[in-house]
Amino acid sequence: MKVTYYGHACFSVVVSGKTLLFDPFISGNPLARAIEVKSVPADFILVSHGHDDHVGDTVGIAKRTGALVIANFEVAMWLEKQGAPSVHPLNHGGGFKFDFGRAKLVNAIHSSTMPDGTNGGNAGGFVVESVDGNFYFSGDTALTLDMKLVGEATPLKFAALCIGDNFTMGPDDAVKAAEFVRCREILGVHYDTFPPIKIDHAIAVEKFRAAGKTLHLLRPGDAFDF
Ligand code: NI
Ligand code: MN
Repeated sequence: MKVTYYGHACFSVVVSGKTLLFDPFISGNPLARAIEVKSVPADFILVSHGHDDHVGDTVGIAKRTGALVIANFEVAMWLEKQGAPSVHPLNHGGGFKFDFGRAKLVNAIHSSTMPDGTNGGNAGGFVVESVDGNFYFSGDTALTLDMKLVGEATPLKFAALCIGDNFTMGPDDAVKAAEFVRCREILGVHYDTFPPIKIDHAIAVEKFRAAGKTLHLLRPGDAFDF
């Protein structure tokens, strides 16, 4: 599965020939200045929660590409009101079979107010199952035992985990999360973008290595094949 990292918690994964774009916060990201939002491809946009650093460029990209936006009910309804041409609401514990495979909204421990103050429901993560393999995106979250349910249910090729601390898990809890979801290949997200979430890359990579796992810290615009 080809993964392209666009900075912060935004990345795309190509499965079944479709491009799934997650949490497209690009034009507002000081570390993603080199990314041209107008050329970011998407067939589906999956949004984990209502915060601006995740909703970001969703409406603009959805309008340009016609991508279907998948999010929790409140986030999906809000994005539709802002002009997203098509949305598919999920709620926690529910999944749906799309033409790329199945996407399930799973628990996260975090808040989810929309950029204008509207209630954004509850924050979530996603498990995607496809013929090319399965993966998990934690969204913004604390470490939670619920992650064990993901590991029990679904063999994962990789997991995208928040690691920046302060607003989410830091590297130590993310190592435990990787153990809970039973995954060795980890894409680190939600770090360095703002001063409170700056991390020491070498220390974080070593923590994962010591646990028998590999932490991939890509630069915005870089791609990796999981
Ligand atoms: Ni957040
Ligand atoms: Mn965030």
